[in-house]
Amino acid sequence: MAIPARAIELPDGARGGATVLELLRTRRSMPRVQPACPPREVIEQVLEAAVWAPNHHLTEPWRFIVLTGEARRELGEAMARGKLAREGTVDPPKLDALRRKPLRAPVIVAVGVIPASREPEVEIEEICAGAAAIQNLLLAAHGLGLAAMWRTGEAAFDPEVKAFLGLPPAAHLLGFVYLGYPAGEPPRRTRRPAAEVTTWLGWA
Ligand SMILES: Cc1cc2nc3c(=O)[nH]c(=O)nc-3n(C[C@H](O)[C@H](O)[C@H](O)COP(=O)(O)O)c2cc1C
Repeated sequence: MAIPARAIELPDGARGGATVLELLRTRRSMPRVQPACPPREVIEQVLEAAVWAPNHHLTEPWRFIVLTGEARRELGEAMARGKLAREGTVDPPKLDALRRKPLRAPVIVAVGVIPASREPEVEIEEICAGAAAIQNLLLAAHGLGLAAMWRTGEAAFDPEVKAFLGLPPAAHLLGFVYLGYPAGEPPRRTRRPAAEVTTWLGWA
């Protein structure tokens, strides 16, 4: 279904004047967020940005499961069930810590990809498209004044967790984007200059 064009409404705290390049440079993974839940409309804007990611043959392979409130506890339970199923026995404190993980942010967007086929080339491209959608999501969240963090861990590869999220066995769970309002300053991070990892061919 086509997405109708409409003006983007910016909430308070949004970085309305920032250019794309500024947003790219200043986005950081933010591990700590405030408990207050952002309005659903803001999360919807973030998701609408996500779906404009490039995707080969327009397969739009991404699926978003948006959890808040008690649904995060249920996700924690699914993570604990999955770990128990994998490992048989787990120290109760470790299991409790796992159960609490989804409570670190008021909103979690689980991102799945359902590949158009199981051919390896197609599957890789579909995962690439899903990752591009997550980057869109992270940048849109940043632009709208939200803090975000892409997390994976064992749970992202757990069939129990996938089933809880309603994803079919053939789906890939690319991770969980934790979202909320920022708490504290963004961590300082560096990158190697692009020149160190770039080869120029055919240039004078
Ligand atoms: C596929 C993927 C999975 C990630 N999973 C985790 C994770 O499980 N836990 C975590 O702390 N950060 C995770 N991150 C975030 C990275 O740690 C973070 O992007 C990196 O430290 C660079 O920081 P920046 O995003 O602020 O530039 C993940 C990032 C990607 C791309």
